[in-house]
Amino acid sequence: MSILEGKKILLGITGGIAAYKCAELTRLLKKEGAEVRVVMTEAATRFVTPLTFQALSANPVSTSLLDADAEAAMGHIHLARWADLILVAPASADFMAKLRAGMANDLLSTLCLAADAPIALAPAMNQGMWLNQATQENSACLEQRSIKLWGPVSGEQACGETGLGRMMEPQALLEQIEWFFSPELLSGVSVLIDAGPTQEAIDPVRFVSNRSSGKMGYAIASAAKGAGAKVCLVSGPVALPVPAVDEFVAVKSAAEMAEAVISRAPGFDIFIATAAVADYRPTLIEGKKIKKKADTVVIALEKTEDILATVSALKKRPFCVGFAAETDSLESYARGKLRAKNLDMIAANKVAGSRGGFESDENALHLFWDGGEQLLEMAPKSILADQLINIIAEKKHESSI
Ligand code: PMT
Repeated sequence: MSILEGKKILLGITGGIAAYKCAELTRLLKKEGAEVRVVMTEAATRFVTPLTFQALSANPVSTSLLDADAEAAMGHIHLARWADLILVAPASADFMAKLRAGMANDLLSTLCLAADAPIALAPAMNQGMWLNQATQENSACLEQRSIKLWGPVSGEQACGETGLGRMMEPQALLEQIEWFFSPELLSGVSVLIDAGPTQEAIDPVRFVSNRSSGKMGYAIASAAKGAGAKVCLVSGPVALPVPAVDEFVAVKSAAEMAEAVISRAPGFDIFIATAAVADYRPTLIEGKKIKKKADTVVIALEKTEDILATVSALKKRPFCVGFAAETDSLESYARGKLRAKNLDMIAANKVAGSRGGFESDENALHLFWDGGEQLLEMAPKSILADQLINIIAEKKHESSI
């Protein structure tokens, strides 16, 4: 039996060209046995007619907040209570802004405000609109309120531009919905994650660091939480809102991160090291700001402690997953680290190019473990995080049989 059998999905459609793809999504959901009710904004009805969704969902389509018949039968509150999941696809920039502001001036925004059910958004918009600071702030704030963001993905856009802003394909959205309804894979399991960069002080105003934004590690923390795990996130300095985890530890330097992680690690079942920990730090931190005098300055560096290797060598050790960020020879370096640090799994990502790796909203991962490997294609980091957690849960389970 499909996991979606009998699940009640409220599909909210806002005004965007990707609305046409929701016809296929509705068909796929019905095929898996889900009950689907469609709510369209006025703008959405300009792209696809409600009749299309009525035929595919086998249910009347709601479009208006002030529909006397609908209010008498199943008004917005009832609709909000009915759903097991509300998926807004495509979610326009305008709708995301409205949702963040808590506005309720049409049926879809009103029922989202009234809903207890989890809400997921599949954003779709021009890449410039997605990258705009307002949209970025809106999406970060919505995620912090536990609203799920599925996508957007990169590619050619209807407006002729190329970039991040396409709605996820119906099949990929279906898989996300299935994942969402899967039993909690990490229920009763504790997961320790480190994320972001470290900052190694040179003097009171300067430091050595790297480009890690924390996006990959934070997405993994949210995915682990979503899978039912107890999560502790140890984070270097990043500009992201703190996700909903059980414990959050903010650190700056590699030494602080090492102390926070190593002291906690024996109490955890899984350790995922996504942090870009500085390999070297200045041997000496000047007490006063270094003055600009000489033409060249030499700063001596010393090795930092390898946190992952130390955790992996502990007597009572968690299942250890490392990351490898490489510009070249991805596989051989990753396999080398898997062996050298005695890891259970390593996730290798390429850091050359504009897509994937550091700072990007997307990534692709090549996973290696003793006797196996798996490629996770380029996808938003939140999607990749769900896939990775799925695989880690499976491998961890196998290792403890
Ligand atoms: O933060 P984002 O902008 O989203 O970018 C994500 C990422 C590219 C930082 C992430 O996907 C990633 O690859 N993280 C690991 C980066 C890295 O430092 O790789 P490495 O090959 O240098 O280190 C190998 C492993 O050892 C890593 O798991 C690292 O956390 C760990 N390590 C390294 C040095 C050290 N002193 N202690 C460690 O624990």
